[in-house]
Amino acid sequence: MNRPLIFLHGSADSAAIWRLQLEHFRQRGRDNVFAIDLPGHGQRPDIFSADVTIREYARAARDILKHELHVEQPILAGHSLGGAIALMMALEHSQELSGLILIGAGARLRVLPTILESARTTPQEARQQLVTLATAPAHQTSIVPTIISEQVTPGPTILYRDLAACNSFDVLSRLQEISFPALIICGEEDRLTPIKYSEYLHQQLTASTLCIVPDAGHYVMREQPEKVNQAIERWEETQATLYR
Ligand code: COA
Repeated sequence: MNRPLIFLHGSADSAAIWRLQLEHFRQRGRDNVFAIDLPGHGQRPDIFSADVTIREYARAARDILKHELHVEQPILAGHSLGGAIALMMALEHSQELSGLILIGAGARLRVLPTILESARTTPQEARQQLVTLATAPAHQTSIVPTIISEQVTPGPTILYRDLAACNSFDVLSRLQEISFPALIICGEEDRLTPIKYSEYLHQQLTASTLCIVPDAGHYVMREQPEKVNQAIERWEETQATLYR
């Protein structure tokens, strides 16, 4: 039996970003795969003020897992900001998780000052600019408008708040505290969290598997959904033999 698998979205996104993953796993009869909206994203009301840290998002995500989904020992799959939240949960509540999937992630997530400033002053333009940068050029026409249209509810300040939380995140020196298995996935053309970040995660996380996906950028799970889904399934199979 596979462990529960929980997807955490990135900055200004929502659970909808995982549509192609949820469809895939549900078509295969998995009823323990979920994607959650962070506070202030998607359908979930906000509980925070203007500033949030990754640690606060991690605590909110933990509450959702415990009190809404009632899942035990899940695998957390986080994209970008969601990857930072998953890493923070792994550091603070390691006994409550059984694995990590880090997609377009990094142990430090400094944001280009021009993007941060534009998110603060012209959030709509910043969103367009960021989603475009986050998608490999070959997929921009087909994917960028869909992703933007799915970012339905975030208020104008959410993108800045999320990026500011990323910008202050740094667990580069703490990764060796994490001992459970991790799958690290990165698009080969990722410009926001370059391959170097995933390679660092792979070097530092003792039990990790690295999967670089060609022809994809930062939104690798939307640009190459089948490859990402297969990588997750294959990795889960190897983990299932360990849990037996
Ligand atoms: N994993 C491994 N190495 C990392 C890292 C990570 N997550 N984050 C930073 N580093 C490395 C950098 O590669 C750099 O190494 P170098 O000195 O050998 O080149 C060093 O740590 C310092 O980098 P950084 O902390 O990023 O500061 P910087 O002043 O060099 O660069 C930016 C700042 C914003 C220009 C840069 O971080 C960047 O281009 N970020 C990606 C773009 C972006 O905005 N992404 C959004 C993420 S949500």
